[in-house]
This record gives sequence, structure tokens and C-alpha cells, in this order.
Amino acid sequence: MRFLVIGGTAFMGPQVVRRLASRGHDVAVFHRGKTKAVLPPGVKEFLGDRRKLGEHAETLRKFRPDVVVDMMLVTEADARGLMTVFADVARRVVAVSSIDAVKAYGVLLGTEAGPPVPAPFDEDTPVREKLFPYRGKAPGMDDYDKVLVERECLAHPGLPAAVLRLPMVYGPGDRQHRLHELLRRFDAGRAAIALDGSIAPWRGCRGYVENVAEAIALAAEDSRSAGRVYNVAEEPTLEERAWVAAVAAAAEWKGRVVEVPSEKLPEPLRAGMNTSQHLWPSTARIRRELGYRETVGFEEGLKRTVAWERANPPAARPEQAETDAAEEKILRETGGL
Ligand SMILES: NC(=O)c1ccc[n+]([C@@H]2O[C@H](COP(=O)([O-])OP(=O)(O)OC[C@H]3O[C@@H](n4cnc5c(N)ncnc54)[C@H](OP(=O)(O)O)[C@@H]3O)[C@@H](O)[C@H]2O)c1
Repeated sequence: MRFLVIGGTAFMGPQVVRRLASRGHDVAVFHRGKTKAVLPPGVKEFLGDRRKLGEHAETLRKFRPDVVVDMMLVTEADARGLMTVFADVARRVVAVSSIDAVKAYGVLLGTEAGPPVPAPFDEDTPVREKLFPYRGKAPGMDDYDKVLVERECLAHPGLPAAVLRLPMVYGPGDRQHRLHELLRRFDAGRAAIALDGSIAPWRGCRGYVENVAEAIALAAEDSRSAGRVYNVAEEPTLEERAWVAAVAAAAEWKGRVVEVPSEKLPEPLRAGMNTSQHLWPSTARIRRELGYRETVGFEEGLKRTVAWERANPPAARPEQAETDAAEEKILRETGGL
């Protein structure tokens, strides 16, 4: 089969491309050329801005992809452009979405009214009603909304889409460095760290990059994914205190995690969310319908991530020193140190 991956050169993308290429498929990526990845020989590269997809339509359509995997759907306009350009060319689209599309995420952020959505929830859980969750909060994210992306892709009358709702993804290449804040404190030789007591029992879904890429590649290859929405995450969705303990074990850190009431903590260490709402999806559907299984075990994925994070730390932030001092003070006061 022929696959066009929009994006595909930064974090999860290369893992998806490698999987598809290694299974004998013909693969091309389309991106701006700002990020570079080592892709398998034979993978074609088309350069351009997906915000101007129409300008590249002729070239991309000539490639005649059977399936287009879109790793970079940010806005409703992105989704509309995708479906228009490939409507009479491709057989299917895989739209990479996020668990942030669901109402439970809005309740967690405090932007959505109502009691917590019962968890675990499946793919039929309601989506957010309040749109544009990051407007005014993150550069370039004003028009980001996976609710609109999903709606646009699933509504197309002639081109079926599979929607994959991804969890928080960690692993080598993670530009968000999701494990760094824990590792930085472990590796400073701390005897203890503080954990906001309100987040300790909270469950938030996660996935290791190679496993998430496996789910994307599987949905791309399997025609049964057409028209379906799938949650992707590792099982079980751990409580935060168990997640911190697992990262500590992978990092071989032997200190203590002290649960401290939110109000006693410096602002950067507070959860700042409505943690009575778990972000805890069921992933039974993709496992049952497509036979999805993780290919890398949980401990092994964490070990690989710890090694990469240690070798590739992000730039230090000067304000960290103040937070560290405040954390140490509270640990002394509570007897954690
Ligand atoms: N990371 C998480 O925890 C997480 C969680 C939930 C959902 N997701 C979703 O996962 C997807 C991103 O995954 P990833 O970072 O692993 O993807 P990726 O495909 O590895 O990297 C992003 C790609 O998009 C390209 N790109 C960026 N802007 C572009 C533009 N305007 N036109 C063309 N290409 C463009 C980048 O290359 P150039 O820079 O060279 O253009 C790069 O190839 C997103 O849809 C995100 O919402 C991520």
C-alpha cells in the first residue's frame, strides 16, 4: 500500500514511518523541512506548508496515497483542506487527535460545567462544548481544536476517516520533556520530593511513543478503522503517585515522595486542575477491533525515556531555583527531609 504521512519527522512521526516502511509499504512524508529525521531508505519527502495544502495538491495527489496519515491536524481549516485535497484520491484518512477533545478534559481544566464525567470512559463519551482550549495561552494555538478536527474529518461523505485520540505521549524525542521535571529533581540527589496531594490519586492517561506509533500504523493499515474513533493509551491508567513511583524506579532513585496539600506548595508545583475529574479512557475498542497490543513493555519504555531525557535535557529555567528552595522548605516543615 501507499501511505502519505503529513508531518512525520519529529517525535511520533518517524516511528510511524519506520513501522509502515518496514512492513513493505511505499511511504512519503510531507512537511516544511524545519525538522530533520533519519527516515528509512526509499521514503519520499515532499516539502511544503500544510496551511497551504492546496498549493501542493497536484504533487501530493500524483503520489496517489491509499491512506493519508495526518500527524499535524491543528485547526478545522487543516481538516477541511485535508479532506478536500484527498477526497477522490485516497481510500482512507487517519486523523491524529487527542484525548483533549473529550468533555472530561474540559471539566479537568475547569472550562466545562457539570459533575465529573464517570471514568473510565469510552469513545462515545461527550466531547468538549467549550472550544479552543489553548486560545491566548500558547503561541500559535489560538485556533487549535481537535473537536473541530474530528468533526470535519468524520463528516466527509466520500472519504472515511479513523480518529485516534492520543494520551500524553512520552519517550525519546519528546519535545515536551514530560519526564524531565521529575528526573531533574531525582538526579540532583534529593532525599525527597513533594507531590501535590490533590493530584496523587488522579488518573491521567499516558503512552510510550513506540506503542502509540504502533497504534497509528495499525489503524493506517487496517481498513476496519474507517469511520471509527479510538482511544489510545497504556493500561492501566495509573494514579499519579504510582506514575511517579514508576519513573523513580526506572531512574533508580531511592528517595521519598511526600504528598503535600496544594495550598502549601509553591505555585509551579500545584496541580491547578479539577483533579476530581480523571482523564481515564478505556482502550478496549482498539484492542478488540484492531488487535492493538503494546510492543514495548511499560518498564522498558520508561527506561528508554529516562536514558534519552538524561542525555537531552531542556535548557535550565532560572525560576527553578526559587521553586526548588520553596519545595525544600516545605519538605523540612512537614518532616519530609
Ligand atoms: N505529544 C503528545 O503528548 C500528544 C498528545 C496528544 C496528541 N498529540 C498529537 O500528535 C501530533 C503530533 O505528533 P508529533 O509531534 O509526534 O508529530 P510528528 O509528525 O513527529 O512531528 C510534527 C511534524 O509536523 C511537521 N509540521 C509542523 N508544522 C507543519 C506545517 N505547517 N506544514 C507541514 N508540516 C508541518 C513537522 O515538520 P517540519 O517542522 O519540518 O514542518 C513534523 O514533521 C499532533 O497532531 C498532536 O496534536 C500529541
